[in-house]
Amino acid sequence: MSRFQIIRHGLLVRGRARHFSSVSLADIDHFRTVLPPHAILTTLPTVATAPVAPAELDQYNRDWMGKYTGKATTVLKPRTTHEVSKIVKWCNEREIAVVPQGGNTGLVGGSVPLHDELILSLASMNNVRSFDPVSGILIADAGCILQSLTDYVAPYNHIMPIDLGAKGSCHIGGNVATNAGGLRLLRYGSLHGSVLGLEVVLPDGTVLDQLTSLRKDNTGYDLKQLFIGAEGTLGVITGVSLLTPPAPQASNNVILALPHFDNVQPLYRKVKRALSEILSAFEFIDRAAYDLAVKHGQGRALNPEDVEGAECFVLVETSGGRREHDEEKLTDLLAELLGAEKPLINTGVLSQSPAQFSSLWALREGVTEAVSKEGKAYKYDISIPLAHFKTVVDSTRKHLGVKGLLGDHAVKHVVGYGHVGDGNLHLNIVAAAYTDEIQDALEPFVYELVSSYRGSISAEHGIGAMKTHALHYSKDEVSIALMRKIKAIFDPRGIMNPGKVLE
Ligand code: FAD
Ligand code: MLT
Ligand code: ZN
Repeated sequence: MSRFQIIRHGLLVRGRARHFSSVSLADIDHFRTVLPPHAILTTLPTVATAPVAPAELDQYNRDWMGKYTGKATTVLKPRTTHEVSKIVKWCNEREIAVVPQGGNTGLVGGSVPLHDELILSLASMNNVRSFDPVSGILIADAGCILQSLTDYVAPYNHIMPIDLGAKGSCHIGGNVATNAGGLRLLRYGSLHGSVLGLEVVLPDGTVLDQLTSLRKDNTGYDLKQLFIGAEGTLGVITGVSLLTPPAPQASNNVILALPHFDNVQPLYRKVKRALSEILSAFEFIDRAAYDLAVKHGQGRALNPEDVEGAECFVLVETSGGRREHDEEKLTDLLAELLGAEKPLINTGVLSQSPAQFSSLWALREGVTEAVSKEGKAYKYDISIPLAHFKTVVDSTRKHLGVKGLLGDHAVKHVVGYGHVGDGNLHLNIVAAAYTDEIQDALEPFVYELVSSYRGSISAEHGIGAMKTHALHYSKDEVSIALMRKIKAIFDPRGIMNPGKVLE
């Protein structure tokens, strides 16, 4: 299926094209009664507010990968829940489609319009509402940047339960809306557990106040869970209450180079047994992904002689309560691994300072950035059994080779990396350009492969605009029908992020 068809499919609602109203000058006049002039960015030729040049809206209309581009004429930046409510209520009455936008770092085309939907940016809603250092419960506006929340709780010796490469730009509201996984899921679990409460503006403008800070609350249906991972299709998240864990007293990491992929599974078992409660991450990078990270200056490369012949790499992190104890466990593990008769690893590099700790992490976290510097990425974010990670990468490469699509002019690299501890592989196809030919070679090929392992076509990035047509590979008809009913209850006019998650 070509990209054109996917976008066209995004417009179909049960076989019927939806028509939404475009933002008009009269709408802008109304928004001026709700927001100050600087919070309204529009290319429409209004008299009262100077129109902006279309290029000024590019950063809102284009996604992080440069793969999806919308045509919004208007971006609104409310500062309060009340303002969000007034805007959304108006849009619902006028049938103007709305795309909620956080840091616009999403990787499935969910955060930008497909057409000329109105963009509702949460960027100006960026205050911490409260923090309780005893319970560690943080209540924040949805537009707070993840890194700034990390910095906010750090002096209280707390950390955010979620961490990801986009932390400098993504919003906590965006993280919740995508149910982002990231690098700490192995230790702290998913946002379905860490989020204690949400404040959400529903499409008719009603404010659903579930911003509680209770660890336990079994009073019927847990409605907030529906908005976690809904990708802005059910309402606008305006406030988030979440449990932040105490900061570990000591964190260490090590990168291990493995001669064969087959060693990853036995290594994971060994590492889990040896490190038990202090293991906090077990991340995977294949050789091609490592080489790209190094090529584009992400982190400090390991000694080339040490990594010669390595087929893949694993980053292990420990987080614990006593530095000496944790270091001893980690060095004992390394000694055991290197001293084995048939070693599972070629070499291991243990960080010796905070700078080295960050540099080793940068090799893993920086793969996304490296891939985007190298070319245009087709990103598949899948859950499959660990044993098949390599098969999936290799068979995709082989398949593209058979189609004659490998080479600098078309597909430059096929790389795999991800979160071994969560069974989540990131299969990235790095191409010179986005073309229908490559798209058609990849889909449904990749989805059928995933489905053959009863895997998930979206482990953590969501469905967005990219995978609406492929939802059935991971969800049965009954589930999809129920999702549609839920969408219709919350958003009967279908104004919230149309063409995302559901076709
Ligand atoms: P956006 O990109 O702005 O929006 C994403 C979706 O959420 C859209 O559908 C949007 O409509 C909706 N949305 C945003 N804010 C709201 C709101 N307030 N209310 C309702 N809906 C809203 N993801 C992972 O899971 N794990 C990773 O490790 C990871 N690493 C990444 C690394 C990099 C370098 C990049 C660029 C992305 C990465 N991502 C990762 C993708 C991830 O989904 C996002 O980075 C993040 O969760 C999105 O937050 P955002 O604020 O940028 O949301
Ligand atoms: C990651 O794990 O690095 C992120 O999910 C981003 C990506 O898939 O590139
Ligand atoms: Zn990831």
